[in-house]
This record gives sequence, C-alpha cells and structure tokens, in this order.
Amino acid sequence: SDFDTLEAITAHISQCRNCPLCQERTHTVPGEGNTEEPDIMFVGEGPGAEEDALGRPFVGKAGKLLDKMIEAMGYHRDDIYIANVVKCRPPANRKPQREEMEMCLPYLRQQIRLIRPRVIVGLGGTAMEGLLGKPVAITRLRGIWQDCQGIKLMPTFHPSYLLRDPAKKKDAWLDLQAVLAELGKEPPPRN
Ligand code: URA
Repeated sequence: SDFDTLEAITAHISQCRNCPLCQERTHTVPGEGNTEEPDIMFVGEGPGAEEDALGRPFVGKAGKLLDKMIEAMGYHRDDIYIANVVKCRPPANRKPQREEMEMCLPYLRQQIRLIRPRVIVGLGGTAMEGLLGKPVAITRLRGIWQDCQGIKLMPTFHPSYLLRDPAKKKDAWLDLQAVLAELGKEPPPRN
C-alpha cells in the first residue's frame, strides 16, 4: 500500500486534504522519536500553535511538561515516540471533531503498526476517544489498561490539563509508574 513505510506516511500527511483542518495549517505534525519498537508511544490530541509553526509534536508549554514526565520515567524524548490523533492544528486550539479524527486516524493506526511500541500512553480524553473510537470520561478511565491494536494502552491526563490542575499530577504519576511496571522498569531516583 501507500503506507508501507513511515516516510511514505509522512509524505502522505504533508499533502493531505482529507479534512478542513488542512486549510489553516502551517505545517503538518506527523510525530517524531524512536521508530524502532520503542518502550512507549505517547499519543496527544493534536498540534497547537507552536507545533503548527515547527511541524513537531509537543514543543510548547504542554510539551515542556511532557518532557518532564518522560524524564521522571527515566527516558529522554529520543527514546520514545510522540504522535497525535490529528496531524493538523485545529483553529483556535479547539478540540478536533469526531469526523476530523476519523479522517486522520488511518495515519496513526499505520504508524502504530510500523513502529510497534511496547506500550501506548493516551494523553487526555480526546486522544483516548480517538484511540478507542468512543467518547470516554478520562477521570474514570485513567489508570486502567486498555487495548489498542493488540498493544497495551494506558490512559492518563493530558499535560495541558495538569498545567491547569497541578493537584492531578499525583494521579498521572501513578499511571506512568504502572507503565514502567509493565515494562519491567523502575523510575530513576529523584534528586
Ligand atoms: N497538545 C497535544 O495534544 N499535542 C501536541 O502536539 C501539543 C499539545
């Protein structure tokens, strides 16, 4: 198919006109990181302003917190893969609509098939809705293992939500510790 390699998927995304989000994008944001069976793939909702400007996922404020979460787990950004459900920025940072997610999901699904992460972490309710194909209540679903294409999927809070409600970081850290336990790893000592 057209989607046999990650390069082909990225090329396809860069030309994509399948939904209205293409009209206002500056750059597509396909995802980046370790593509060789990484321990973890993080999946967010969609690009924001900084991501749209640079064509890279999670490079704004939420990205800074995601970096801290990754480091707290004992990884660096290059060790894992970071992607989003939609590859183009929704105007004014609104949530992607169901149809937009459905049009874009074949890209993420094929990225997951080719990258073969050991575990997927779904960041927030919108990302989880895309991954599971149904609306979810993230406060109820977080911390509970799900399945995505035969790969264990851990739902947790989106870093933007954690920036608005830092008291929820405790729960998110429990979720990330469950991911480490599944991978047979321990968090590094904290200084
Ligand atoms: N929020 C997301 O969901 N994805 C990004 O890439 C950046 C912010």
